[in-house]
Amino acid sequence: MTEQAHVLAQALNADLQAGGSSLFSMLSAKGRRAFFPSRGILGQSAEAKGAAINATIGTAFEEDGTPLCLECLEGLVNLPSTAYLYAPSFGLPELRETWRDMLRTKNPSLADKSFSLPIVTHALTHGIGVAGYLFTDPGESLILPDLYWDNYELLLEEACGGTLTPFPMFEGDRFNVAGMERLLLTPGDKKIVILNFPNNPTGYTATESDAKAICAALQRAVEAGKRVVAILDDAYFGLVYEEGVSKESLFAVLCDLHPNLLAVKLDGPTKEDYVWGLRVGFLTFGCKDATPAQYKALEAKAAGVVRGSISSVTNIGQSLLLDAYRNPAYAVQKQEKFNTLKRRYDRIKAIFAAHPEYAHSFVPMPFNSGYFMCIKPLGIDAEAVRKHLLATRSTGVIVLMGLIRIAFSSVPCDKLDALFDNLHAVIQELRT
Ligand SMILES: Cc1ncc(COP(=O)(O)O)c(C=O)c1O
Repeated sequence: MTEQAHVLAQALNADLQAGGSSLFSMLSAKGRRAFFPSRGILGQSAEAKGAAINATIGTAFEEDGTPLCLECLEGLVNLPSTAYLYAPSFGLPELRETWRDMLRTKNPSLADKSFSLPIVTHALTHGIGVAGYLFTDPGESLILPDLYWDNYELLLEEACGGTLTPFPMFEGDRFNVAGMERLLLTPGDKKIVILNFPNNPTGYTATESDAKAICAALQRAVEAGKRVVAILDDAYFGLVYEEGVSKESLFAVLCDLHPNLLAVKLDGPTKEDYVWGLRVGFLTFGCKDATPAQYKALEAKAAGVVRGSISSVTNIGQSLLLDAYRNPAYAVQKQEKFNTLKRRYDRIKAIFAAHPEYAHSFVPMPFNSGYFMCIKPLGIDAEAVRKHLLATRSTGVIVLMGLIRIAFSSVPCDKLDALFDNLHAVIQELRT
């Protein structure tokens, strides 16, 4: 590897430093070297687009100019055969614009705010990897609540060499803003924080007052001289079941909070639109006073990391989504699926209200959203409960960080009573 960053990376870095912006200083060493190879095969192919004879790109076309496509595949999905061609590493332009417009609709406070065009990632997992690559140096801390999606360990510790630095997620039954702030204010100018609402595993989303307090704490940190990268994992966005709980992403506030705070929003259809295997996600940047050129530079760096890891995201998946988002039935169908999950959430609340005796066996952790809720078994090891529950009641749950996680997203309403009855019974049995 050469000492100097590639000349294209240098140009992007110059854009990110322009006007005294601190965006460049938030990047990792690898992020500073990242660039999109706009001049090689891709650039030359783009220049030749529309040429009478085009012998540039490594895809194949029939004699009549349509993409070569096996008929047995072509008939499987109702899309033109162009959906089998490569998508750009940035993602399909129409899908990026559609998602940006949808972000504004889903987060009305974003209406007049500027932020980058989303970059398409291979779903959120890959988006987290791209964000880790761009912003995390080996040994660097990533501040996050202690109840987090365990794949952050592979993505951010093992792959990027970062160190997850947790704070207790709850203080009583509220989000522990003070715990987060204490870590933000520890020595060091640059801080990375990861916030995931609705949260996996707890199913907790910041209430409106939590959200205000989180943003205020981040503001105090940047005003105290910190440069903050706030990574927002919005995988379960939109699945909020209670009044008074934030329905908008923190991104809506953080994207223009302060020039020294860069918000990196990771989201996508995986959980929101129930397409777990489709593998499409989005990564969007927002920072107060960032110029269009600076957003373009960040997008080019992210697309360069996409190009250097998976090349580009499935065109078929992106095309299917675009069709779905243009379908007039989309909103109604999405609401129906939301209602299904909300019914289960309401049922769980009703079960707890009807069974005060469960309080002798377990304590539910705060939950108000998402796919999951967690309980803390009392006076007994969670793993012992999990094993006994599976062996004696044919009931499967997950144990994480000493808690039992229940994915009510995958349990029909009429089995929820039995699920909690089984949990209670097993804990009582194991105790005696
Ligand atoms: C909090 C959180 N973030 C990200 C992901 C990954 O989502 P995707 O399947 O889109 O990669 C998950 C999946 O379980 C998750 O729970």
